[in-house]
Amino acid sequence: MVKVAVLGHGTVGSGVVELLTKNHKSITDRAGQEIEVKYILDIRDFPDTPYHDKFTKDFQVILEDPEISIVAEVMGGLSPAFEFVRSLLEHGKSVVTSNKELVAAKGAQLLQTAKAHNVNFFFEASVGGGIPIIRPMHQCLAANEISEVAGILNGTTNYILTKMIEEQMPFDEALHQAQELGYAERDPSADVDGHDACRKICILASLAFGHHVYPHTVHTEGISGLDLNDVAYADSWGGVIKLIGRAKKLADGKMVATVFPAILEKHSQLANINDVFNGILIRGDATGDVVFYGRGAGKFPTASAVVADIIDIAKASCTSKSLSWDDSPENHMADYKTAPLRFYIRLSASQAAEARQEIDRLFGEVEYLARSGQPENELALVTGEMTEYQLEEKLSQLKSGTLRSMIRVLDY
Ligand code: NDP
Ligand code: HSE
Repeated sequence: MVKVAVLGHGTVGSGVVELLTKNHKSITDRAGQEIEVKYILDIRDFPDTPYHDKFTKDFQVILEDPEISIVAEVMGGLSPAFEFVRSLLEHGKSVVTSNKELVAAKGAQLLQTAKAHNVNFFFEASVGGGIPIIRPMHQCLAANEISEVAGILNGTTNYILTKMIEEQMPFDEALHQAQELGYAERDPSADVDGHDACRKICILASLAFGHHVYPHTVHTEGISGLDLNDVAYADSWGGVIKLIGRAKKLADGKMVATVFPAILEKHSQLANINDVFNGILIRGDATGDVVFYGRGAGKFPTASAVVADIIDIAKASCTSKSLSWDDSPENHMADYKTAPLRFYIRLSASQAAEARQEIDRLFGEVEYLARSGQPENELALVTGEMTEYQLEEKLSQLKSGTLRSMIRVLDY
């Protein structure tokens, strides 16, 4: 019998306890032994749950109970989650977590602590909700050199974009629905401003390339600046706008990681991933592209990944060697503005014909776009490939138009 504690009884934590109870028999068969929840830690009281006798508010009780060998940290946030997890590992208890903020900030350190104490620190639920991605990356794809990871990594923003674009739902209403459905972070600006996707690309890049990628080194933009006029132009071009996190290893060994809204061609692999679904593309030298798809957030999809980690630890006799990365060396991140891309730009220009002449002279061959209801003084276009520095230089020389929006175009 394995006895576990669950820290946090919110959306994910309540799902973990319910799933371990509901699927008790099949989970016992797969783990090779029974898994019993002994404690649930939360600040609040939950007198009406069938598990009310398991609740405690005292972390020390869990830390000092020798019967507890696995703890699920599903509270979120950095503190006290970090201090709790570090103490648990140091006390010889394995930890599983859905907390991407914690893994993105402290993953290298906690993995080392786990190894030093011969226990496991697993975080399958921290990326992609219910999608198996962490374990496939360090186990099933272990024979590959991975050159690139990219994806739709945030369910809330993908839900909002889908509702806004397909149902013309206002942003605030779509966000409210995502919160009601348990998809959004406690502070939803983490979703909307791209920080949640940033944490996830940090975890994937660390795992893929072997060195910790810290969130402050990733250029991050969210979806709050998106304009429905740009959605219409993207549509007329045959594209859709998605929030994409990506990390790439460059020829000189450095890596570049970014999160920003991007235009994808409608037929591309990530373009048709809608609603709360996530899609993650891994580019391996042996496999080519592998795409993982599924529900990226929500109570039971996320609990499924947390419980899978618990089962894996219950089955394992030693610490995992393949789930590991080192801390980051100096200057291992490249400047994202040096990568060549195509760009969508929208401009206002009182003299549109004159602006077109100037654009043609500065940018060479471009594709002009049209939308219904397009004002006479508005121009939208997709450039050829150039770096972002080159784009900025050309835009700084443009005298007859004012930039209204710029969205990068990606080929996935
Ligand atoms: P919730 O806010 O729903 O749940 C967190 C729970 O932990 C709350 O009940 C909270 O209590 C409790 N809690 C917070 N701090 C403490 C503390 N110091 N001691 C005891 N209890 C505490 O969050 P979620 O379940 O949605 O998310 C949990 C984690 O999982 C986060 O890291 C999140 O990013 C991650 N995650 C969430 C997903 C989702 O779809 N929701 C998907 C994948 C990952 P109180 O409410 O009283 O503060
Ligand atoms: N808020 C996150 C999302 C939860 O919407 O993707 C899953 O990590």
